[in-house]
Amino acid sequence: MHVSRRALVRAISGVSVLAVVGLAAAVWFVYEPEIAPIARPDKASFDEAVVKRGEQLATVGDCIVCHTADGGKPFAGSRPLPTPFGTLYSGNITPDEATGIGHWSETAFDRAMKQGVARDGSNLYPALPYEHFTHVTDDDLHAVYAFLMTREAVSLTAPANKLIPGLGFRPLLAGWKLLFLHETSVQPDPSQNAEWNRGKYLVEGLAHCGGCHTPRNVAGGEELGSEFEGGVAEGWVAPALTARNPSASTWTQASLFNYLKTGSDENHSAAAGPMAAVTEGLSRLNDPDVKAISVYIAYKMHEGEPSVISDPSTIDNATQAANENSVGAHLFQGACAGCHGIGAPMADQARASLSTVTDLKLNDPTNAAMAILQGVSAPSGKGPYMPPFAGNLTDKEIVELLAYVRSRFTASPAWTKLESSVTSARREAQAQ
Ligand code: HEC
Ligand code: HEC
Ligand code: HEC
Repeated sequence: MHVSRRALVRAISGVSVLAVVGLAAAVWFVYEPEIAPIARPDKASFDEAVVKRGEQLATVGDCIVCHTADGGKPFAGSRPLPTPFGTLYSGNITPDEATGIGHWSETAFDRAMKQGVARDGSNLYPALPYEHFTHVTDDDLHAVYAFLMTREAVSLTAPANKLIPGLGFRPLLAGWKLLFLHETSVQPDPSQNAEWNRGKYLVEGLAHCGGCHTPRNVAGGEELGSEFEGGVAEGWVAPALTARNPSASTWTQASLFNYLKTGSDENHSAAAGPMAAVTEGLSRLNDPDVKAISVYIAYKMHEGEPSVISDPSTIDNATQAANENSVGAHLFQGACAGCHGIGAPMADQARASLSTVTDLKLNDPTNAAMAILQGVSAPSGKGPYMPPFAGNLTDKEIVELLAYVRSRFTASPAWTKLESSVTSARREAQAQ
């Protein structure tokens, strides 16, 4: 095809005009003004009852989990958060004026929580889960603000983020938000009761359960239409909280309440990995709100159908599994049976049998490998715990153990690609 030089020039200048207009539009969209600093509000100006309510809401939002470094002061930030795009450091959200949010007006705070924009106008990374916090009511945000502004002020500046090249440029985030941030409020469902709707409001908003349990696309946005179908968090798999959850015994509203409030359930094992911090927070939340969350999640898991309660699984193919894999059986006897074997004392302490553990039923062996490498801390600091085995077992031994526990405690097909899963789980565990 022949293209005249004039036509080519016209086409190119057309494209550049479009590019200039596009750039101008982008700059206009990206630009967020600074919100003027205020004098730090007097603690006494906040109503005590509101502060108390804010404390409970901040607990639901896990603010303390992400905004406290290991061994650091609460809410002072600097906790490293590994993401597929590099490491981010959380900010200082104590009311320190120089390094925290002491100078932030409530308007500035609300904008950060709902639109992911800092007081100075720069865009924030969605590691602060504003995709969910955007659904929180102004009244509730007011209470969280009151709670934070009445904490101890701590002077601490977070280290610079370590992101893959290019992504450190914050204006890019405006484009991300255009695609993935939906600033809507949670619509109550009039066909459901108040408790269910309270659960929905908390789960979709402050509790941001979907932040881990919903799969994300390559750009790190939550996939629309796949809500709660299972995601990843800090090297662990966050299992589906829908009918696709593979648990061997049914999750009921009561077992969910128990798991969320205490960190373990007799028929479902303990919350390990990043879920442990979530349940630690929920253990401090009032019972009616934890119950509301469990009502809503139970509904999601059974798609509104009344759940058919299956008995807790009691699969234990000990003999057959040992015949198939004597190396794994031997390792299990030495390292695990004292706690997970038949008649082990732990069974009398309301601890689940490995036959009920979702980790062994998932198609992906990652969580079981992570549990062996990192251990499982005692839920709420009480009762038996599992020590980390990263320093005691080689990758080869963990592969044998995983093959063995899968065949002994489940009726699911053998895991494939065990070697590579264990290698990458160890890499993740070491990076933390
Ligand atoms: C999953 C981890 C996570 C949770 C949960 C979380 N944050 Fe953050 N937050 C971050 C990270 C990371 C940043 C820094 C983002 C950046 O640098 O762009 C941040 C930034 C902020 C900022 C901006 C601070 C500044 O100096 O710019 C505020 C305000 C904030 N968070 C408040 C909260 C509150 C309130 C809660 C609880 C309701 C909360 N965050 C829960 C990770 C989290
Ligand atoms: C920071 C990421 C993260 C957040 C936020 C989170 N979860 Fe989880 N969740 C996980 C991971 C990872 C697991 C797997 C834990 C394990 O294997 O022990 C898990 C496990 C669970 C399980 C057990 C599933 C099973 O079959 O064993 C339930 C139920 C659950 N989460 C509910 C919730 C609810 C409800 C919320 C919101 C209140 C929530 N999660 C928020 C990461 C998260
Ligand atoms: C000192 C006791 C102890 C030993 C030894 C031990 N575990 Fe555990 N394990 C636990 C406890 C406690 C839990 C949490 C169970 C609960 O609270 O319901 C657990 C949970 C698990 C889970 C489920 C993790 C989750 O996310 O829910 C797996 C898988 C597991 N253990 C495998 C093993 C294997 C394999 C070995 C041997 C290498 C082993 N354990 C050794 C105490 C132990």
